[in-house]
Amino acid sequence: MSAVRQHPPEDKRSPHLSEYSPTEPLPEPGAVELHPRLDIPLLHDLIRPDHLLWTPRELRDLTGLVASELTGRLLDIVRVDDENRWWAKLGLTAGVELWLLSWAPGQGTEPHEHGGASGSFSVLFGALREDYRYPAGPVRTTHHDVGSRIGFGSGRAHQVRNVSSVNSASVHAYSPPLLPVRYYSDLADVPPIPPQRAQAAQPKELG
Ligand SMILES: [Fe+2]
Repeated sequence: MSAVRQHPPEDKRSPHLSEYSPTEPLPEPGAVELHPRLDIPLLHDLIRPDHLLWTPRELRDLTGLVASELTGRLLDIVRVDDENRWWAKLGLTAGVELWLLSWAPGQGTEPHEHGGASGSFSVLFGALREDYRYPAGPVRTTHHDVGSRIGFGSGRAHQVRNVSSVNSASVHAYSPPLLPVRYYSDLADVPPIPPQRAQAAQPKELG
């Protein structure tokens, strides 16, 4: 199924870099790749192919609108796999990537941050627990119910899990797109400096 990406956004367990690396070229500014079942004018408008650097609020609005305005189409696309987490790429531009993820009960990510990208997610159905931390801050926990939407800056590290007894699905967006996700054994291990400052201090690792 071509719509399913082989390298998940949040599922690899390298202590440093996931396999979610920029292995594919980004579209040129103004161009867009959309899931074949979402290649509709509304999503062309929402994903704004000329918009290169999205703020957390813009990302939150994007995932919220996609989840609320395209609910029926997303429900036709989504699958839940009890054995392995499932995901599908919904869209990609030079400025943003958009994903649909599902979470069977008990499924979740390892602690991670998004390598300097801002992000957002909106819950399509079910509920998700998020443990998160900003640099040098305490670990906090929040629960996201269906319809909730959040945006966050690059400093947020988190672990997202479905701790409920029913399936869940959520729409995620990140900008800049296709930055490698960095994983940690524990949220307490996240270094106390923002990722973008760490990247500036040393050569960027790829692969
Ligand atoms: Fe994440």
